[in-house]
Amino acid sequence: MSTYQGYPHRLDVRHMSTPPPSDEEHFFITTPIFYVNASPHLGHLYSAVTADCLHRYKLLQGFKSKFSTGTDEHGLKIQQAAESAGKDPLIFCTDVSERFKRLFVQCNISYTDYIRTSDPVHRRAVERFWTVLQDKGLIYKGSYEGWYSMQDESFLTPSQVADALDSSGKDIKISLDSGHKVEWMKEENYMFRLSAFRRPLLAWLRGNPGAIQPERFYQDVLQWLQEELPDLSVSRQRSRLQWGVPVPGDPQQTVYVWLDALVNYLTVAGYPDAHAQWWSSAHHVIGKDILKFHAIYWPAFLLGAGLPPPRTICVHSHWTVGGKKMSKSVGNVVDPVEKSGRFGTDGLRYFLLRQGVPDSDCDYNDAKVLKVLNAELADSLGGLLNRCTAPALNPAQRYPPFCPELFAAGSGGRATADDWRLLEAVHGLPAVVGRHYETLHAYKALEAVGGCVRLTNGFVQRHAPWKLDRGDEGDRRWLDTLLHVALECLRTYGLLLQPAVPETAHRLLCRLGVGPGERSWSALSFLPRARGMACPFEGRALGADCGLLFSRLEPLDTDDRKPKRTLKRA
Ligand code: MSP
Repeated sequence: MSTYQGYPHRLDVRHMSTPPPSDEEHFFITTPIFYVNASPHLGHLYSAVTADCLHRYKLLQGFKSKFSTGTDEHGLKIQQAAESAGKDPLIFCTDVSERFKRLFVQCNISYTDYIRTSDPVHRRAVERFWTVLQDKGLIYKGSYEGWYSMQDESFLTPSQVADALDSSGKDIKISLDSGHKVEWMKEENYMFRLSAFRRPLLAWLRGNPGAIQPERFYQDVLQWLQEELPDLSVSRQRSRLQWGVPVPGDPQQTVYVWLDALVNYLTVAGYPDAHAQWWSSAHHVIGKDILKFHAIYWPAFLLGAGLPPPRTICVHSHWTVGGKKMSKSVGNVVDPVEKSGRFGTDGLRYFLLRQGVPDSDCDYNDAKVLKVLNAELADSLGGLLNRCTAPALNPAQRYPPFCPELFAAGSGGRATADDWRLLEAVHGLPAVVGRHYETLHAYKALEAVGGCVRLTNGFVQRHAPWKLDRGDEGDRRWLDTLLHVALECLRTYGLLLQPAVPETAHRLLCRLGVGPGERSWSALSFLPRARGMACPFEGRALGADCGLLFSRLEPLDTDDRKPKRTLKRA
């Protein structure tokens, strides 16, 4: 049983349960900082790609967006990993931290801040944060006795622990949540008065129903808060844990790794110096396994320190392989460096964002990646661009003119009800896609774009512009109009895809001759000619043909399941 002894002060906990209004200009998005005890895997990249997509979307919308990521380097398991590698902990951490950085550069993760908990600037923030909590009487010296999972760096109550056998058949206890082995721990250390924060946390959540998304995770946290919260041990004896920030004023103790790690978000915002501007617009992207730390401990620490909780905590589920959680011991860890080498940076990004669902786990396999990329990026989108820019159909290599009369209803018009439906769908697409990006449902955003790409391919197919006669005045005007509409559709898709697949979107927009200054969200005015307005692209030369937008991928012999081959389009 966990017991807490000590002399906590009875304090009136002042709290700010409602964040102050953020200014309309700033946006601050974070990924969790990654443990450096092992190499990056696909799940890590997923957290980063999800946050990157939102950051890029916000920039396109004109926000000043800050995007932080980095590495979580302190703690017992890192200390032990460095020891078993026979390396100095800082050298060991630098090595792995650089690996994360390289992966992020390779995958176009456009972070603005890369933080390491071993940075002196972060240590200063942790020391100040600790001192503020202590000065407010929220930290007291006590003793902790209970279960601890080193892998999760987490304290557990008896109800969170179960019996199990290890690989040699020995009886052990494991965390019900993560399955990791737990050990009994008895130590003198500092405690944080978490128990005082149950009501403030409930008040914060009830006043901010969108604070944790998706809804099911918000409900989980409310449920956890139905029970009393035990106080939390926030330090370890220095004799056991040397690799961490020493407790200010008591070098015999090391700050608990989660308190240390969570403060990274404040460090990036500028704490303990001016930080309010960024902090008041902070949004965290996290995986579901670290919800308790972010939705209970972190807001409680912040409220205790007199700071507002983050605006939103956006939770995503996990990637599994063969239905099992990725783990080194199962041997099913997917290496994102290898996969982005094989499928391309945008290929892997597209797959993760297109298939990853925040609410439920997704299973990874190469065959699925191949199938999705070939169908959606190579054939559907790439094929559409290819058709509409091919010199055979567009010998002048220009954005052709649009003839409103041919698209109007009534006599003289050649458009059909299906065509108007397409226009309506593409016109409404930016709002739909923006809403989904905003709520981190990139899969819905990409699904919506994909649906419109299919409609546009149907439009081209239906009117078969290749059968029209350029020598005939009426046919030529209709052919130009068809191409103008298709290129406007493609321009819209290119703009909307920028947050998800920046390189592919860039290639697409370059081919259409859309300049760098014409790619923001405010440039999303689809087919202005149909609304009697001028189109700045009409008559403009297309950009150079740089080959296929996205090359079809071939299955390898080693692929687990081969997808059905689809026919190559001309
Ligand atoms: N260091 C802590 C976070 C501290 S933040 C103040 C940590 N690190 S981690 O390296 O274990 O995980 C980092 C992120 O990767 C988390 O969001 C986690 O959910 C995510 N993923 C780890 N495995 C995952 C999958 N298999 N699938 C998807 N994401 C997963 O926790």
